[in-house]
Amino acid sequence: RRPVSQNVVWESGALTREMRERLKGHKAAVLWFTGLSGSGKSTVAKALERRLFEMGVHTFFIDGDNLRHGLNGDLGFTPEDRAENIRRAAEVARLAFEHGNVVLASFISPYERDREFARSLIPSGRFFEVYVKCDVEVCKRRDPKGLYARALRGEIKNFTGVDAPYEEPRSPELVVETDLQSVDEIVETILQELVRVGIVP
Ligand code: PPS
Repeated sequence: RRPVSQNVVWESGALTREMRERLKGHKAAVLWFTGLSGSGKSTVAKALERRLFEMGVHTFFIDGDNLRHGLNGDLGFTPEDRAENIRRAAEVARLAFEHGNVVLASFISPYERDREFARSLIPSGRFFEVYVKCDVEVCKRRDPKGLYARALRGEIKNFTGVDAPYEEPRSPELVVETDLQSVDEIVETILQELVRVGIVP
């Protein structure tokens, strides 16, 4: 699952992640936000990032919509393209993690197998799968980009929650429910967990 080009040798950096973590004053981690379109993944991640910034924590935010404007702009929404999307996103997350950041990665990532790939790149205890749970009917009502309406009219194919699957996380580190809790409450819950496990002081 992790291709390597031929005739290449790994070049070690001058600094280790541990040295970068000492400089930054906190540990590195990857928070992987997964959930339906319109569930609030990026809203939660961005609100959390603002709080972490105020605490002096070094963060790195990536999300599907934005990566698909550049690095992943050649990919669509077939299962194969989503796998490649998550593979590249996970590799980017890993690089930012190795540089000592708290990475906030927000992707629908509907397939368990792809999420497990992302997890496999990060040492245990540093990867937090955050299931941003929200009833699909609520997502359809919110429809912030009008995409559900278009998918239901058949204008967009392979739309998650309409005619493409979402495999629910089976053992996520955190579950937050945006149709039941406020964004502020959710951010506090995640922050408390990061403090409890010693990622941030
Ligand atoms: S995935 O499944 O992880 O590869 O998707 P991701 O990279 O997170 O991109 C999701 C955003 O793309 C828009 N969009 C679609 N989503 C799902 N299915 C289909 N067919 C689709 N077409 C476009 C949509 O705006 C998603 O954004 P979010 O932020 O999740 O609502």
